[in-house]
Amino acid sequence: MVQTEQTNADRVKIAKSFGSASKSYDVSARLQRFSGKHLMPWLPNRHDLTVLDLGSGTGFFTDLLAGSYEQVIGLDISTKMLNFAKEHRNKKIIWLEADAHDIPLKDNSIDFIYSNLVIQWFEPLDEAITEMLRVLKPGGLLIFTTLVDGTLHELKSSWRQVDDDQHVIDFKTVTELNTLFNNDNGKLVEQKCQDIILEYQNVIHLARELKGLGANHLAQKKNRGLSGKDKWFKMTEHYKDFLEPSGIYPATYRLFSGLVVKLNN
Ligand SMILES: C[S@@+](CC[C@H](N)C(=O)[O-])C[C@H]1O[C@@H](n2cnc3c(N)ncnc32)[C@H](O)[C@@H]1O
Repeated sequence: MVQTEQTNADRVKIAKSFGSASKSYDVSARLQRFSGKHLMPWLPNRHDLTVLDLGSGTGFFTDLLAGSYEQVIGLDISTKMLNFAKEHRNKKIIWLEADAHDIPLKDNSIDFIYSNLVIQWFEPLDEAITEMLRVLKPGGLLIFTTLVDGTLHELKSSWRQVDDDQHVIDFKTVTELNTLFNNDNGKLVEQKCQDIILEYQNVIHLARELKGLGANHLAQKKNRGLSGKDKWFKMTEHYKDFLEPSGIYPATYRLFSGLVVKLNN
């Protein structure tokens, strides 16, 4: 896979893209709710813990964590997401506006990091992993979900038949994640990968949900702005190859869940 480094300007755009979705996000977040709940069995039973929700978004799961753990910190790069969270969530939560590649917390200060559907935005991911492992206490856990290669394959292949622009972000492969998370300081001790297929009435419904999730910024997209109407129409015609007999449009999200432990070096 071709890797491009995200610049600070790209990260500001990602933050804005998520920020403009902060109010519609909670209603269009079907996938987020499913995947975040899916991580619950891995959460530690002890309650006297300090937890970091990395990429906390509207704070839906930060709020749940605050009901179970002593100190909970929500960190996000988007001001608007944080403003929404501050207004609507448990008042004991500490909110931080920061980039996961430069976490403003001390070394060895966090018992576990929870991160739901955020890591796919980190570039370069190895830098963010170094930061996550730096702030975790030895023996501390990183409990996360992310999307991997195969996600939105229907949309990717439909666009591929129209032009060679990049319309969907590149997702890492499971092998790449294993290489990145198994290093001198961390070990990926548990992992699961499953396809979640969501159903849409039409391709506009899918595009609206992706936009509602703030997931419409593409660092590598050559042809920014709206794609021409003709191109869009051609793409939707190709998408019909995937139509289910019921007339529903499917979209695949390949969900990877991982449990990483920080080694006692
Ligand atoms: C798909 S949302 C998930 C939000 C939340 N974890 C949930 O489950 O509802 C991704 C979030 O990651 C944040 N984000 C993206 N890149 C980030 C970065 N480099 N550092 C911190 N947060 C980031 C976005 O602002 C957005 O709120």
